[in-house]
Amino acid sequence: MRSICLFLLFAAVSITACNTYQEPQEISTLFNQDLAPFYHGVASGDPQTDRVIIWTRVTPETNEPVNVGWRVSESKSFDAIVREGEYSASHEKDFTVKIDVDGLEPGKQYFYQFTVGENKSIIGKTKTIATTDIDSLKFAVVSCANYEFGYFNTYEMIANRKDLDAVLHLGDYIYEYASGKYGDTTKFDRRNYPNKELIELDDYRKRYSQYRLDEDLRKVHQNHPFITIWDDHEIANNSYTTGAENHQDSLEGSYAIRSNAAKQAYYEWLPVREGKMYRSFEFGDLAKVIMLEERLEGRTIIPDSLNDPQRTAENHSMLGEVQMAWLQKELADSTTSWKLIGNQVIFSYLNWGWPNFKINLDAWDGYPAERAALSSFITDNEVSNVVFVTGDTHSSWAFEVTDDPFNNYDSITGDGAIAVEFGTTSINSSNSDEGNPIDTVLAHERKIMSNDMNPHMKFTNLHDHGYLLITLFEGQARAQWYYMQDLAVPSTTEKLGNEMYVDLGTTRLYSK
Ligand SMILES: [Fe+2]
Repeated sequence: MRSICLFLLFAAVSITACNTYQEPQEISTLFNQDLAPFYHGVASGDPQTDRVIIWTRVTPETNEPVNVGWRVSESKSFDAIVREGEYSASHEKDFTVKIDVDGLEPGKQYFYQFTVGENKSIIGKTKTIATTDIDSLKFAVVSCANYEFGYFNTYEMIANRKDLDAVLHLGDYIYEYASGKYGDTTKFDRRNYPNKELIELDDYRKRYSQYRLDEDLRKVHQNHPFITIWDDHEIANNSYTTGAENHQDSLEGSYAIRSNAAKQAYYEWLPVREGKMYRSFEFGDLAKVIMLEERLEGRTIIPDSLNDPQRTAENHSMLGEVQMAWLQKELADSTTSWKLIGNQVIFSYLNWGWPNFKINLDAWDGYPAERAALSSFITDNEVSNVVFVTGDTHSSWAFEVTDDPFNNYDSITGDGAIAVEFGTTSINSSNSDEGNPIDTVLAHERKIMSNDMNPHMKFTNLHDHGYLLITLFEGQARAQWYYMQDLAVPSTTEKLGNEMYVDLGTTRLYSK
């Protein structure tokens, strides 16, 4: 590219012309021209009591840095500006803009906007965490959005809610596959770009760019602050610190380079505070939200089978020593009523019960010693009111958590449970009924809920897509699973699929 520019320069063509920023046609056809140059909208995230991240992306005309203004106000009309500033967006961060706006007041709604010259972005809405007098908290919990598998109707339904404190995204925000390589996507007119497996930094950047041009995803980011963590597909399927199932060094080069590229693109495109991805958010006396990182921080290789010696090897870990010590301190020091743990893969023992798929070793079932250590810590230190919320499975779950449901737990009384776990289904990634008749799936749901297979399982749904709504009150935590009627067309019809509760001071789940 540089030599072409030099050639053009010698040919007396303006250097500006050779410096033109070229957006691929597959991306630019998704642009809503009314939003120029902020086609990707705005986003906010990682709220604290005095600060929040605000984000945008400017699509430039040249490769030169762009001066972007930003402002924050308590009113949508911006008649009183609380904070403002400028930022130089450049190619180094893919022309993304991320500002950690501090000096804010706790428990307040704020509006924010970006400018380039006379052009203004859409106005984003966000919220800081209150310090006191929090009667209740409400979080939409999501994971697993496959662009090719239909419309992001789930995101639109969450965007339309007026009652949320934040959206917790537990990962698989994107998928790394080339078009048509994950699920039968032929019935949807939505194709992955670039049409290749994501390997290089530019690949990951382009995929995020495509996702963020989706109207529903743009809207949900505009309306709510996000607290996010990646899972494996932001890197490559079944990833861990030194490799991934979907990574071959011989064909795709260094895994370290690939995972660093994936991380860089994630940091550029998500409104997340940079540093350690495991982090916590304290909502007054009511709840601490603890986000775990279960891929690149401390996870060792995923065992091949239940008998693989790796599964019980010394130093085999999901979190790793440093993160585990941090988690234990977060739990032990917490004085909040609820400890809500954002967890990527199922913590509870789970027998899936399919003839060719019973135990998922990519989940905590592949890391039993560390799970037992965490369970013991919770018991020994009398840490109460722990609620795991979990993504990854594209299915809905409720468990009374025990590290051994067959020996340390009574399914009639619930004695022996140490916590509860709620699993959220996918935004739209496929689950059991996309490969099996619905009657088979419904029968299978009843089968695996049985006492001899999963005595601690209190609810499952293997066939719907949507989101989990968690509401925390002083005396009770409520889980509600909302399901979308349709993914094949844009639709705003949802239904409440199930509700379950746990009272403060207990680990017993019950239905409404
Ligand atoms: Fe997924």
